[in-house]
Amino acid sequence: MKTSREIREDFIDFFRNHDHKIVKSAPVIPQNDPTLLFTNAGMNQFKGIFLGEENPKYPRIANSQKCIRVSGKHNDLEEVGKDTYHHTFFEMLGNWSFGDYYKEKAIELAWELLTEVWKFQKERLWISIYRKDDESAKIWKEVADIPSKRILRFGEKHNFWEMGNTGPCGPCSEIHYYIGNSPEKQDARNINIDDPEYIELWNLVFIQYDRDEKGVLHNLPSKHVDTGAGFERIVAALQEKKSNYDTDLFAPLIKRISEITGTDYTQEKGIPHRVIADHIRMLSFSIADGGMPSNEGRGYVIRRVLRRAARFSRMLNMHKPFMFQLVEPVTEIFGDIYPEILERKIHIQRVIKTEEESFSGILDRGLELFSTITEELKAKKKNVIPGPDVFKLYDTYGFPFDLTALLAEEKRFSIDENGFFNEMEKQRERARARVSFQVNKKYSIDKWIIITEGTDSEFVGYESESSRAIILRYLIDGDEIQIVLDRTPFYAESGGQVGDTGIITGKDFTINVENTFKSNDFIIHLGKLENGKISDNPEVFAKIDKEYRQKIRLNHTATHLLHSTL
Ligand code: SER
Repeated sequence: MKTSREIREDFIDFFRNHDHKIVKSAPVIPQNDPTLLFTNAGMNQFKGIFLGEENPKYPRIANSQKCIRVSGKHNDLEEVGKDTYHHTFFEMLGNWSFGDYYKEKAIELAWELLTEVWKFQKERLWISIYRKDDESAKIWKEVADIPSKRILRFGEKHNFWEMGNTGPCGPCSEIHYYIGNSPEKQDARNINIDDPEYIELWNLVFIQYDRDEKGVLHNLPSKHVDTGAGFERIVAALQEKKSNYDTDLFAPLIKRISEITGTDYTQEKGIPHRVIADHIRMLSFSIADGGMPSNEGRGYVIRRVLRRAARFSRMLNMHKPFMFQLVEPVTEIFGDIYPEILERKIHIQRVIKTEEESFSGILDRGLELFSTITEELKAKKKNVIPGPDVFKLYDTYGFPFDLTALLAEEKRFSIDENGFFNEMEKQRERARARVSFQVNKKYSIDKWIIITEGTDSEFVGYESESSRAIILRYLIDGDEIQIVLDRTPFYAESGGQVGDTGIITGKDFTINVENTFKSNDFIIHLGKLENGKISDNPEVFAKIDKEYRQKIRLNHTATHLLHSTL
């Protein structure tokens, strides 16, 4: 049986021998494309060529591309773990022709690799084409010696491929494979209905249009080929596995998850194992390519995926950070193919561990709150979770909206989505009101020295009294300094509780923090720069004065008790 490494090599060798230049995978974080959060297809890096804005260096190219599909037009997150073949991160094997060969050659090449090199059984292969694409129908009949009843026509949804709402697109032809145990019972009606026995292996896209912002299609100057084969599915089929998770791409990860958590993996009870194995790949590759968990944009997608995995780890009775230990097997599987994952291993482990630690404490409390909310609703015979509760889980317990939605779905509740977004809007208004007040009160905003981009600080002080952090910005006025970090254990003055004090140390300086307050989504530490000066190194260590915090706590509790008595 071939290993996944050999199968990837077969693909690359085949196209190299057919005059294709083999190129590197682009990073999963797109470099110059604001329309995309993550690279979601092999063709992304060639978009400019398709649109005629760039000249191709080579007319034929092939590669194995790292892809992430968790947002935007192509989003597979909901399916991950429930089934055996959708992933947030996956590899796409692709070959491209830029104005060179078109439908005929693309179909011939795919058929030759599948049936002659990999020896897929023809009597299990199915072809789908775009309903108006007579040309492809004719070519398939000539090239592939299979009965024409195995060539099926579908509409736009399945056989017209688009990268996003705008951009290059065109009709496509897909190759599906029946992996079930009863080949004599194959049925055309099972194609394209997410039947796990009929797997889509390869998509051949014939790019000939550009869709503009009004949705209108324009002919491109040349016609191109853009193909993408799901590597994990090909490996599963060739290794004769019913599930991608049973292949050598995932099995070492699942094994490690079972060892660490002490829970056996079975197909039936394995959703948490599968989700975690899938998500750790997405996290490792996105962090390796420069992504960081944060509260907005792509950083928030990374955070959501990590928190989703953390929640599934609770189903395996893991209540402490452990996913960072899975980075090691990820690098063992991929280190020689994508060296960046090996080079940044320590960084990836550190980011995941810190993020796990900061969510760990509040996750259990959030889950308890979720249970209380749903128990109370059940008692009242209601099944919609009100917006303010969803918002509280989001704002106080860091539960991304879709995590609460997932928990709700599992318990057969629905969510008041509009109510949640109303609460979000109210919070934004409060923040806007606060920011104008703060800025006028003391300094003009343009005096801030920005060290790292970021629009918010995360509070991690429920879980620990110290934390590593990165400086976002600071502002100096005489001997007084205000400093904002990406995360902090310092509680900011609010709800009648005063701010924390403590120490922030950097490479060449120490700050004695005398108060902490909030401005917009920033937590600002106010204090004295005791010695040194702030250089370009953004890494700091922030530690609160524990005794002072304890006194604040006692006083705060006493105030609540007093209020309650009064
Ligand atoms: N761009 C097409 C896809 O993503 C073929 O690579 O399916």
